Amino acid sequence: MNVSGEAGTREARSAGGSGSNGAVRLDRELQAELDRMRTAGTLKAFRVLESPQGPEVRLKGHGEVVVLSSNDYLGLANHPAVVEAGIEALRRYGAGTASVRFICGLFEPHLALEADLAAFLGTDSALTYVSCWNANHAVLDALCDERTHVFSDELNHASIIDAMRLARPGAKTVFPHSDMAGLEQALAGAGEVSRKLVVTDGVFSMEGDLARLPELVELARRHEAVLIVDDSHGLGVMGETGRGTAEHFGLHGQVDIVTGTLGKALGGAAGGFIAGSRALCSVLEQRSRPQLFSNGLPPTVAAGARQALRELRDDPGLIGRLRSNTAEFRARLEEAGIAPVAGESAIVPVIVGETAAAIAISAEMLEAGVFVTGFGYPVVPEGTARVRAQMSAALEPEHLERAVAALGTAIARHG
Ligand SMILES: Cc1ncc(COP(=O)(O)O)c(C=O)c1O
Repeated sequence: MNVSGEAGTREARSAGGSGSNGAVRLDRELQAELDRMRTAGTLKAFRVLESPQGPEVRLKGHGEVVVLSSNDYLGLANHPAVVEAGIEALRRYGAGTASVRFICGLFEPHLALEADLAAFLGTDSALTYVSCWNANHAVLDALCDERTHVFSDELNHASIIDAMRLARPGAKTVFPHSDMAGLEQALAGAGEVSRKLVVTDGVFSMEGDLARLPELVELARRHEAVLIVDDSHGLGVMGETGRGTAEHFGLHGQVDIVTGTLGKALGGAAGGFIAGSRALCSVLEQRSRPQLFSNGLPPTVAAGARQALRELRDDPGLIGRLRSNTAEFRARLEEAGIAPVAGESAIVPVIVGETAAAIAISAEMLEAGVFVTGFGYPVVPEGTARVRAQMSAALEPEHLERAVAALGTAIARHG
């Protein structure tokens, strides 16, 4: 990583002759890969935060900057009650169980969080994992066998794509983004399979658009398929009370399986979960591989996420502020002659074309005190590189004003 100097340490070790020839050759190959990324302008820079996540942070080497690149949608990552709940759990339970759940047990905050998540999402049960990445792997791996057919939207998150590879279902169909006719055709043509799983993001992270849940629910029912929605970007964001994309469409409690992260709106630390029927969560607890071979959430995180859920439940103003900030940001962009991708979520992408332009705009905005990430190929298709702004309930009007001014100036130069 270019902030830690680790590569230098390894090089020194190799030069001193302590590495095997294989390790020396590997380092040379890896260094060549890094050099290629640098030449192509795609080498990522890792910023160091010197203050907690929030609408403004102190970035090492850059001072105070406005943050438009975090998923701290509700501004709860440094909320005093969330922080206090974590500290209290740390004092009471220590750092963690030092083993996996079935070997060494779990703490009350895990069960309390799982009960609260299930109640929040209108499911019978929920089960936590150390990340939503893990949760997506767990659910697909556990539910797939050679008689399973998985249907997945082409723009699904990388964790779902990788989970399908690992789960090796008997058949899989990747349907074009939100193409319901294509999905229906694939479902109808699936023939004799014992289990059909339709899996989709609730809010697609690069576009900020929503899955067409009414049609997905209807198609899943008609074709006796199970619908799995990863609502990582929808929880705490979509729906009247932040219950997610299903609530937004009036379908609360009607999605068979919901997966999500605790690392965005719900406290911002880390962690993920699967919510669904009692039988599903019990089977996953018994045999999903991350439950069997990996530690559970630290109790600090479980307690902090639970408090974040409480804040969301008890302060409807949070969702209101997130929504009005998103509307105001979009309006200011349009006033400045910048057309963001249309959408209803808190993700506001502005397409700028080439990867180098997105990176240059993001760098120039940072110089102007606004931290927002540019995404290019291969994360998004060639020619659709973008600056992706994400809204937060904690942003103030002056932050939005600064951000739009900086974006306008940078686009004029590089867009
Ligand atoms: C849609 C989606 N699913 C899953 C994840 C992974 O979440 P976690 O950070 O909890 O592993 C992300 C994170 O970027 C995401 O955007």
